[in-house]
Amino acid sequence: MSYTQAAEYVNSKIDRAPDVAVVLGTGMGDLADALDNKIVIPYGEIPGFPPIDGNYHKCRLVVGRLEGASVAFMQGRLHYYEGYTMAETAFMIHMLKAMGIETVILTNASGALNDEYAPGDIVIIRDHIKLCAESPLRGKNFDELGERFFDMTNAYDKGLIRLCEKCADGLGMSLPKGVYAYMAGPQFETPAEIRALKILGADLVGMSTVPEVIAAAHCGVRILALSGVSNMAAGIEGGGFNREAIDNAEPVIREKLIGLLKCIINKL
Ligand code: HPA
Repeated sequence: MSYTQAAEYVNSKIDRAPDVAVVLGTGMGDLADALDNKIVIPYGEIPGFPPIDGNYHKCRLVVGRLEGASVAFMQGRLHYYEGYTMAETAFMIHMLKAMGIETVILTNASGALNDEYAPGDIVIIRDHIKLCAESPLRGKNFDELGERFFDMTNAYDKGLIRLCEKCADGLGMSLPKGVYAYMAGPQFETPAEIRALKILGADLVGMSTVPEVIAAAHCGVRILALSGVSNMAAGIEGGGFNREAIDNAEPVIREKLIGLLKCIINKL
């Protein structure tokens, strides 16, 4: 299996399997700077890893120490809109599982449909809606990872959500919990699509994370997913794609996330 080959390679470069992995979303790659004693492994060096064609993310795995724990930060993820297959977008989760990691924190940037949210907010993803594109697990089942049919009720781990809320309280932040709608992209949504998603119960929209959550639920990896609102969604007041607004939101999100991540990792 290419993910086991990848996991063996990464584990051969580090002393012991990390306690937790954090997948860094768009604009969040610099959070890996917080690690001490870093070991950097470019994805392109990992055997079995889907090919990386110099996309705009720093595509590398950075392992180091944070708050006394060994942490693997994944700088850059594989998106369907980049041309990866759905199965490839879940590859990282399979690799992390094979490395022995049981807890993964996923971060992403999203557009907000819920008008109580604002750019710069962090929202805990409590559930998702995925209407488009196939499952990352379509095709022959990986029996060694999990069963063919599996439950999604607890895909977003309630214990990790409670821990995150406790940390947020301690930091004087109040984090809403929302439903994230997956859209394949790369185009942002139309206002009509956003209205439809809102009727269906979505609070956020974005182009990542959900394939990883599905793979994690299948193979029993605990997930906490945190979304940074980079913009209001299309058709919502002030919403749609706006580079300047997104660039302004990113540092605010990074600042909040690093405090939260440190607290969560310290208490895991
Ligand atoms: N739509 C889809 N993906 C996104 C958005 C959005 O508004 N903002 C950040 N990622």
